[in-house]
Amino acid sequence: SSPRCCAKPMRMMCRKDRAVRLGLWRARSVPSVISITDIFSRIDDYEHPRVAAMVNECAVKFVKLKGEFVWHHHDEEDELFYVVQGSLLMKLRDGDVTVNAGEMILIPHGVEHCPIAAEEVHLILFERAATINTGNVVNEKTRVTVDTL
Ligand code: NI
Repeated sequence: SSPRCCAKPMRMMCRKDRAVRLGLWRARSVPSVISITDIFSRIDDYEHPRVAAMVNECAVKFVKLKGEFVWHHHDEEDELFYVVQGSLLMKLRDGDVTVNAGEMILIPHGVEHCPIAAEEVHLILFERAATINTGNVVNEKTRVTVDTL
């Protein structure tokens, strides 16, 4: 079997997952106010990103982290991490950085990273809907499907 979970055949995907993979999926079609605190209050698990909105080809994903994630990179996709609450330690091969609430960090494609949340962190990710959270790595933390709120 392929080490890339995104290699699942298109014909085996549901309509939404197929649209996500093709970059055609849109989460909402009417203007709506989104409460960031409300959304985080509805998330009761960790390492499980949910798409709250789409902006053209960019998904806005809400996720809570706690503990150490996994070293990985994304071959083609950049990721923007915006920390809403808590303090995220972003381990990088060239040195670690701390991203505090109200700060954000861009991880360019190809750059290995490993997010660590010593305490609970609330994050908003800006990336393609189809971006897989563990990038080039497949393990028990990998989320392939796109879950919405
Ligand atoms: Ni990543």
